[in-house]
Amino acid sequence: MRNTVIEIRDLYKSFGDLHVLKGIDLDLYDGENLVVLGKSGTGKSVLIKIICGLIKADKGKVNVLGYDLNNITKAELNALRLEVGFCFQHSALYDSMTIQENIEFPLKYALKNLSKMEMDKKVDRVLEAVGLEQTKKQYPAELSGGQKKRIGIARTIVVNPKILLYDEPTAGLDPITCVEINDLINQVKAEFKASSIIITHDLTCAKQTGDRVSVLLDGVFEKTGNFAEVFNSEASSQIKQFHDYNFIDNKNF
Ligand SMILES: Nc1ncnc2c1ncn2[C@@H]1O[C@H](COP(=O)(O)OP(=O)(O)OP(=O)(O)O)[C@@H](O)[C@H]1O
Ligand SMILES: [Mg+2]
Repeated sequence: MRNTVIEIRDLYKSFGDLHVLKGIDLDLYDGENLVVLGKSGTGKSVLIKIICGLIKADKGKVNVLGYDLNNITKAELNALRLEVGFCFQHSALYDSMTIQENIEFPLKYALKNLSKMEMDKKVDRVLEAVGLEQTKKQYPAELSGGQKKRIGIARTIVVNPKILLYDEPTAGLDPITCVEINDLINQVKAEFKASSIIITHDLTCAKQTGDRVSVLLDGVFEKTGNFAEVFNSEASSQIKQFHDYNFIDNKNF
């Protein structure tokens, strides 16, 4: 049987009268890419914020790398956060720091006794992995949107997290850069052996990166499987609509 690194059962989360998550079950297996698809406002970001302990669930089991998030101490949460890397929707780089300093930042926090040489080595390795060695001395403002996304990913993987959470990794990018980011996500999976949840409403991203895909509809996962299984002929009208909205124009080329 495959090892589970995240196990969620019957998870509920509301904000006042707004019932966002209404009975979520999710398993993330060791070494896989799981894509969570859903329309804007369905609670995808809320779900991954719960997984990394930024928001508390109202009800339900949330187990991440053996930690029960409903009963976790502050020290355990700090330890867990080093194992769970979050790639933010808008890269969230520090504008006043160079690319090198941005990547060193989590490293200094996670591995306090690292020598300058070891630190340089780690920074160089992740910059090479994302193909942006030449940007080391530059500032975020000098980079394109796609390059910033890559640096955001480099900064997250530099501490070797066991789990990676990508929030809309291809949002706002042109189609060619999207494909490059999808390739990078797959390359990171192979090279760094992390298990990942990829939140998106981009079906090309889902198809290219997802070992499994889960569709979030009305607060629950309506369907989970590989891309072909989820979008087969028996898919519900809402899932079909989602698919056609993304791909229908392609058929006209
Ligand atoms: N801290 C909060 N307080 C109150 N409401 C919130 C909070 N966080 C999220 N929400 C609400 O929960 C719903 C789900 O938000 P969420 O950010 O998870 O959507 P999403 O699926 O990630 O959407 P998008 O694709 O646009 O990023 C939204 O209606 C949002 O307004
Ligand atoms: Mg979101």
